[in-house]
Amino acid sequence: MPDLDWNQATWSSDANWRDHGEEWSAHWGGTEALWREVIAPRIAPLLPARRAVEIAPGHGRCTEWLRRSCDSLVGIDLNPECVAACRSRFDGEQGLEFRVNDGRSLPGVEDASVDLVFSFDSLVHVDREALSSYLREVARVLAPGGAAFLHHSNLGSHRRLCALSRRLTGPPVPYRLGRWLRRNLLINPAWRAEDVSWRTVRRDAAAAGLVCVSQELVNWENRARLVDCFSVLRRAPDVDIGQALPEPIANRGFMRQARQIRARSLGSG
Ligand SMILES: C[S@@+](CC[C@H](N)C(=O)[O-])C[C@H]1O[C@@H](n2cnc3c(N)ncnc32)[C@H](O)[C@@H]1O
Repeated sequence: MPDLDWNQATWSSDANWRDHGEEWSAHWGGTEALWREVIAPRIAPLLPARRAVEIAPGHGRCTEWLRRSCDSLVGIDLNPECVAACRSRFDGEQGLEFRVNDGRSLPGVEDASVDLVFSFDSLVHVDREALSSYLREVARVLAPGGAAFLHHSNLGSHRRLCALSRRLTGPPVPYRLGRWLRRNLLINPAWRAEDVSWRTVRRDAAAAGLVCVSQELVNWENRARLVDCFSVLRRAPDVDIGQALPEPIANRGFMRQARQIRARSLGSG
């Protein structure tokens, strides 16, 4: 399971930034299409933001788009190399700032000062301990009425299947056959945190003083297994918790939608 050391080592290596993260948008035909058709519709109710924080921006793939709807944005990443890449990419841009952190806190962000905390395609690799620390930080920095959109792992909902998949698809099974079996029949863990699920996030959010107002489970790089979750969180005082929280939405069509978006965006390009 990925931990802070794994995240530090993996994302400080140039080998994983051949196209500055654009390569991960290929499922949707590019970052513009990913933003326009996947991310923007999901965060539209949370924008525009006066002040935003992006956790783990990497080389700024989403920052490029998110910044257009924010007066100011602070990007905070574990890896100094990623922070340097963002500083260089957005050099001279007003209202943008990038900081290195310890992988679990939001240094220099004042209490109750932020309208939106955003993170996409990063916290999936972050374990429960670090993620719950971020949830406490989100509760600390959100201003009244503010919200967080966090993309995190849901592998914790499939622990037995993960163990079975490891047993049945590891060596001596040939790599390509193992990958096919994981993606199509068992589960493709894709370096997600195995101790995080939509339930643990709900629980840890509540302990931090936050409420998950919506959760969407998606089959990222899997045929059917819902390995990821998009959670929208608000401060408990802003939410009427007299009502039952909504059940998560199970979106097994997420990768099919990606293929449709890709076909449209490449067709129109
Ligand atoms: C797969 S990259 C994605 C970057 C960016 N969100 C994107 O979509 O292009 C993962 C990023 O998460 C950062 N990261 C991993 N664990 C972290 C943590 N615990 N706290 C802050 N950043 C972290 C890495 O340094 C890297 O920049």
